Amino acid sequence: STPMNFLQCLSLHSENATSIFNLVYTPINSSYSSVLDITIQNLRFLTPFAPKPLLIVTPLRVSHIQAAIICSRRYGLQIRIRSGGHDYEGLSYLSEVPFIMVDMVNLRSITVDAEDETAWVQSGATLGELYYRIAEKSKALGFPAGVCPTIGVGGHFSGGGYGTMMRKYGLAADNVIDAQLVDVQGQLLDRESMGEDLFWAIRGGGGGSFGVVVSWKVKLVPVPPTVTVFTLVRTLEQHATKLLIQWQLLGNKLPDDLFIRVILQSLNSGPNGTRTMQASFNTLYLGGVDALLDVTRSSFPELNLTREDCTEMSWIESVLYFAGFSGEPLEILLNKSSNTKVFFKHKSDYVREPIPESGLEGMWERFFEEDEGVPLMIWNHYGGKMGEISESALPFPHRAGVLYKIQHLTSWTDAEGGNEAAPKHVSWIRSFYSYMAQYVSKSPREAYINYRDLDIGTNNVIGNTDYKQASVWGKKYFKNNFDRLVHVKTTVDPGNFFRHEQSIPPFSF
Ligand code: FDA
Repeated sequence: STPMNFLQCLSLHSENATSIFNLVYTPINSSYSSVLDITIQNLRFLTPFAPKPLLIVTPLRVSHIQAAIICSRRYGLQIRIRSGGHDYEGLSYLSEVPFIMVDMVNLRSITVDAEDETAWVQSGATLGELYYRIAEKSKALGFPAGVCPTIGVGGHFSGGGYGTMMRKYGLAADNVIDAQLVDVQGQLLDRESMGEDLFWAIRGGGGGSFGVVVSWKVKLVPVPPTVTVFTLVRTLEQHATKLLIQWQLLGNKLPDDLFIRVILQSLNSGPNGTRTMQASFNTLYLGGVDALLDVTRSSFPELNLTREDCTEMSWIESVLYFAGFSGEPLEILLNKSSNTKVFFKHKSDYVREPIPESGLEGMWERFFEEDEGVPLMIWNHYGGKMGEISESALPFPHRAGVLYKIQHLTSWTDAEGGNEAAPKHVSWIRSFYSYMAQYVSKSPREAYINYRDLDIGTNNVIGNTDYKQASVWGKKYFKNNFDRLVHVKTTVDPGNFFRHEQSIPPFSF
């Protein structure tokens, strides 16, 4: 009977009772599964056995969110908030306890003010939609957020959000200047009424802890009329290891206009299945090819970059390039969900000292033990603007001193075994992560909240979680900013209503 009572409660608290009924899905509704499944990004959680929400609310207005919060509290239900559904561990749509899901899918409006160089974007919009709407208004403006266009603004900004312009302009969260949030009391707050502590916490402290963020005001950034991209591929036989040693040394000293990430994977290179590693130097330069060639010749000559390797384009075309599209119209950025979903488990690390050659060789050996193409690493330079912002400016603490971030990935398809193959691949990545411990940041071993990883520690699903237990994962994501996050949480949500396996707990819990 709880869903029925909940529905009555929703209609009582919504501005327009008739419209809210059209926005609620229960398991007996024929659209329930399609609404639930559409933005689930990790196929590991797209199974009949995954716990499902008692009810999905897809608000059209703020009053629908307010009603969902008030009624969930009244009936003792937990709430999961979903924007783009890209959470690596599925925390926006999974819970072991009875819960409802608030899906922001209908709250996706974007208003760009090109003159003021700002935009208001609702949490349910995707990054692709945001980039598209900015480019529609101005070719001279862009926004420094993530690479994958189907990521939701809501979760991404909540955890920081980085992309190809991070070295020039920092994170998405560094460029948020206002926000609207519905708190545990159901009040709609903006930057002024929520106060600077809460406004600080929602820009990088991770989603699902402080309230439902409805929309964000962002500062747009200047982009040049021409940018240049290239992806230079080198195998071990082409001295990839030496190049990576060099890349590590100069990475965060390169000009801010240059972003070179490295994608590493293993390949079968010979007829007898001989293995090699392939390093792809995947690059954006905020300027034309001539200037880029000058920069790489003086600072990274070992790359041997030539004009033929490079392509000039507009910034918005570079968004398509990094998203892996080639030749598709810009409108592909308006797709609401991805067509290339896989099963995956990812982890993250921060590197503060270059990894020696012997360490790299140990990594390659471990890659060769796994199936070809399943494991991957993405190395991302820091430095530039990232090193200029103080560790405590926002909850995201990985700033000066970080050479680069590693994302460890293992992903596979149905054809490669689907969920039955999960134990093998998850076990491989955990063992690889153990090996990496000697080469990466320590005390704490830092991790990126937007690369959610429940292996590094969790709250109790039922009952309270004390500060000490939560610090185990909290300090890894936030370092000393974790304490301030706990303080904010204690002030704004002392009863711990907004909670999940890695939400910030209040002090008394
Ligand atoms: P989702 O809806 O799953 O939410 C994530 C978390 O935020 C959940 O805890 C959820 O409850 C909470 N939340 C969501 N909406 C909220 C709201 N309105 N108010 C309050 N809480 C809310 N990251 C990056 O920095 N750069 C990158 O380039 C990429 N690339 C990338 C590619 C792919 C394929 C994936 C799957 C992921 C990435 N990411 C990334 C990671 C991504 O930034 C991270 O998963 C974000 O949290 C996803 O935000 P969504 O809204 O899509 O997730």
